[in-house]
Amino acid sequence: MNNTLQKNKEYKKFVVDSRLQYFKPHATKIEKTFAEEISSGLGTNSKSIHPKFFYDKKGSELFEKICSVPEYYPTRTEISILKKLQSELSSYLDEDFRLVELGSGSSTKTRLILDFLTSQKTLEYFPIDISEILTESSEELLNDYQNLTITGIIDTYEGGLEFLKTYDDKSNLIIFLGSSFGNFSPIDGYKFLEKVYATMKPGDLFLIGLDLVKDKTILESAYNDSEGVTAKFNLNVLSRINDELDADFNLQNFSHHAIYNEKDQRIEMYLKSLVDQSIIISKSDLELKLQKDELIHTEYSHKYRLSQIHDLLDDVGFELKHTWLDDKKYFSLTLVSKT
Ligand code: TRP
Repeated sequence: MNNTLQKNKEYKKFVVDSRLQYFKPHATKIEKTFAEEISSGLGTNSKSIHPKFFYDKKGSELFEKICSVPEYYPTRTEISILKKLQSELSSYLDEDFRLVELGSGSSTKTRLILDFLTSQKTLEYFPIDISEILTESSEELLNDYQNLTITGIIDTYEGGLEFLKTYDDKSNLIIFLGSSFGNFSPIDGYKFLEKVYATMKPGDLFLIGLDLVKDKTILESAYNDSEGVTAKFNLNVLSRINDELDADFNLQNFSHHAIYNEKDQRIEMYLKSLVDQSIIISKSDLELKLQKDELIHTEYSHKYRLSQIHDLLDDVGFELKHTWLDDKKYFSLTLVSKT
């Protein structure tokens, strides 16, 4: 009972119809965080913008486009593995599982999982995404899956997991695809996995999609596509700051910069200042001074070896069930449980 009261305080509930409802934190909570996080990220010597801020409506649309540029192999590779594992995954799903997705975006890959859950008594989907794109993708899913009900959470992963933890007793299959985990720093990633683990009940399952270490040229071109969609996506975060925090970034004074750091096994993405410049970010109370060639860090995308994936999940306490790969060993999907 208490939980419901607590939720109502922090989240606003929107009931669209009997099959679709979603929860969103009160606006003031988000806005304050955005202005503050930008201020602390850019108000220091090594400047950064947290990647979760990429995903406003425009950013989420651009990201969907990235997923289909020829150089960006992860999405289509992960889809090919999902198609292969469908029948095998079913053997782990003997009872009624609710599907929970972290960072659901357009929910394209979700369909591949829903397709083999349709034999269950009830089909329930719980997307958690920072972007409102969730409401549109949910409507489309409801049209295509007649016995599906959806409860969406428009919030950060952490917020969504916290929400889920006290929700009910039903078993959850939590999926986290697209190697989004690689976007955390190693420390934050570890804390995140601990949070997932703490959210899970015994018997719950977690499926995580992770990109693997491979040739540097393949990796770098995936984040420097020839159409420039990734560049647009990276630069879009500055437009968002302009719009929402009353700032005056001139996008022409920046370029997209993405390189593979072999030692740390990660793509590092930056916005590079092309001139000496000064930018006012009113709502963050900040005057940002940048020198020519100075970098603002916007994202890491870590790449893994299989042994590292297994060690990491094992350290957190998960029990390893299975790892699936594509033929070229470009990408991996690993299923673990909490015992
Ligand atoms: N999780 C995706 C990845 O690391 C996110 C991503 C792909 C991304 N391309 C990007 C994020 C470009 C920012 C910019 O591959």
